[in-house]
Parts: sequence; structure tokens; C-alpha cells
Amino acid sequence: MNANERDILLDVKNLHTHFISGHGKTKVTVKAVNGVSFQVKNGETFGLVGESGCGKTTLGRTIIRLYNPSSGEVTFGGRIISGKKDAELQKFLTSNIAMVFQDPIASLNPRMTVQEIIAEGLKIKGIKDEATVRNMVGEALYRVGLLPEHATRYPHEFSGGQRQRIGIARALIVEPTMVIADEPISALDVSIQAQVINVLNDLKRDMGLTILFIAHDLSVVKYFSDTIGVMYKGRMVEMGDADKVYHNPLHPYTKSLISSIPLPNPHGERRRVRVSYDPSAYNIDDERLEMRHVEEGHSILCTPDEYEKYVLMANRG
Ligand SMILES: Nc1ncnc2c1ncn2[C@@H]1O[C@H](COP(=O)(O)OP(=O)(O)O)[C@@H](O)[C@H]1O
Ligand SMILES: [Mg+2]
Repeated sequence: MNANERDILLDVKNLHTHFISGHGKTKVTVKAVNGVSFQVKNGETFGLVGESGCGKTTLGRTIIRLYNPSSGEVTFGGRIISGKKDAELQKFLTSNIAMVFQDPIASLNPRMTVQEIIAEGLKIKGIKDEATVRNMVGEALYRVGLLPEHATRYPHEFSGGQRQRIGIARALIVEPTMVIADEPISALDVSIQAQVINVLNDLKRDMGLTILFIAHDLSVVKYFSDTIGVMYKGRMVEMGDADKVYHNPLHPYTKSLISSIPLPNPHGERRRVRVSYDPSAYNIDDERLEMRHVEEGHSILCTPDEYEKYVLMANRG
């Protein structure tokens, strides 16, 4: 293993997750994740973006094994986590990868106290001593900006932003290496979205967390992602250093995503040119498509012909 490989925490290789619905003549296969490969380095924030229905949640849930992959391989810290899900693998996953969900209301059991909700993960780790559990919950609450006395209350007593902090505290109590945050701020008021992002950034800094941050909107991830991956119809179409993907997008789908972000100042906003994406001009099922490296830290899903064009575009800058 060379130094570079040691830096890689999560390695996803040609992952497929297909759902079959209906039966007989109405049977359809939805290729929610259709051959996705990417790597997440230790300590980085990887922003995964793409419109609703492109497969982001399915990808996250397949990594953490809430869904089983149809094919492909996923390794985490060098260990294969896409194989048979036995008790041992489940334990490994629960203590290493935590998930923060989009809807802080639906994801917290209303009949449990905050203490009980956050402490759940500790059971799996075999930590039962009451005083230890109370201390650890208190510390987790503190880390997300809540108070120890919040522990005895119920989820409905909190605002949306506070509930999401509880969800984050629950995720980090097991001291995971990686957090998969699936649209953690989409359901929150704009005024408190930044606060929740700051909580995640503080945790990243203080605990060395690696974050896979899922969003439908590129404007959300561009500020704090090291790497950005753009998904479209179950595939990754563009991926690379956040700066390059955001400032020099090459794939027409990424371009349209970026042009749809409103500009902060009104003068720029009036001049903003929207690039619309015409899906019929691009065949996502073309068998010649492959993720190709067009410049340092920047890859595009393209055919060999398109590749030449993208290399030129990338180097024009
Ligand atoms: N459990 C499921 N069973 C069948 N189809 C599903 C299931 N979950 C998601 N899908 C389908 O897979 C596709 C991707 O969904 P999803 O991963 O939720 O996308 P995103 O999170 O990007 O909005 C959609 O077409 C969705 O309808
Ligand atoms: Mg989703």
C-alpha cells in the first residue's frame, strides 16, 4: 500500500444498486445507482450533488448497507464492506460510519428522550454504565451547541435546527470515522442552515471527521467541500477538486446546475445567464462513457471523442 492509498478512506468501485418494482409485464428495474466509482480521502469533505431522484440517497444508503448493492465493491479503511452482511460487518459499520438524515423530525423517535436517542449508539459499542453514558451524552450535546439539561426533554420541544443538532449528536456519539449527511439542511430555514453547517465543520476540525455531504444544490456544498461529485441519473458525471468543478465546470449538466444558482448581488443576478440542460442531447446510457481524467484533480464521464474536447476545455481554464 503506498502513501496515496493510505489516504483513501472510502473507495467505491463500479457500484450498482437496482430496484425492481411491480411484477410480470409491469416489472421495471430502476437503476438508482448505475456504476458509480469515487474515493473519499481521510479527513476531507466530499460534496455529492445532483437533482432529486438521481440516486444520492440510494448511494449513501448502499455504502452504509441500509440497501444491498446489486454489484460493485466498496472498501472502507481497506476493508470490504459490500460483501455479505453478517453481525461482525454490521458492528464495524455502526461504529465507523454514521448517518445524519434530511428530516430531523421523522428521524427522531418522538417517544424517546434526547438522552435515550443519543445514547442508542453506545449500546452497540457495549457501553452501559449509567454515569459514563450520561457524561458522553452531555459531551455530545455540548459539541453540537446544546446543553446537558436538554437531555431529559423530548424532540417536539426543540426547533428544527436544534433537532438536527440532536441528530448530529446521535451520529457522533459512536466516534465514527465518517459521517454521511444526507441533505441535512434541506428541511431547515435558510437562517439556520449555516449554523448546522458550522457545527459539522467544527466537528470535522476537532474530531478529524470525514464527511460525505449530500445536497441537491451545488451552492450549498461549494463553500466547504474539498471535492465535489456531480450525479446524474445514477451516474457520476463530473468529479474533482471543489474549485475546479465549481469554477471550471465542463460537463453540460454541471454547467446547468451552476448557472441555476442565484448570484448574491443584484447586478450580477441580472446578468446571470442560465444554461439549460437538454437531456436528449446527451445519452447517459452510451456504452463508451467512462470517467476520464481531463486534468489534475478533475474527471468527466465522457466518450473517447468527447475526451479530447474536454481536455482542451480544461486547459483553457
Ligand atoms: N426503496 C426503493 N425502491 C424502489 N425505487 C427506489 C427506492 N429508493 C429510491 N428509488 C428510486 O431510485 C431513484 C433514486 O432515488 P434516490 O436515491 O432517493 O435519489 P435522490 O436521493 O438523489 O433524490 C429514484 O428513481 C427513486 O424513485
Ligand atoms: Mg435523497
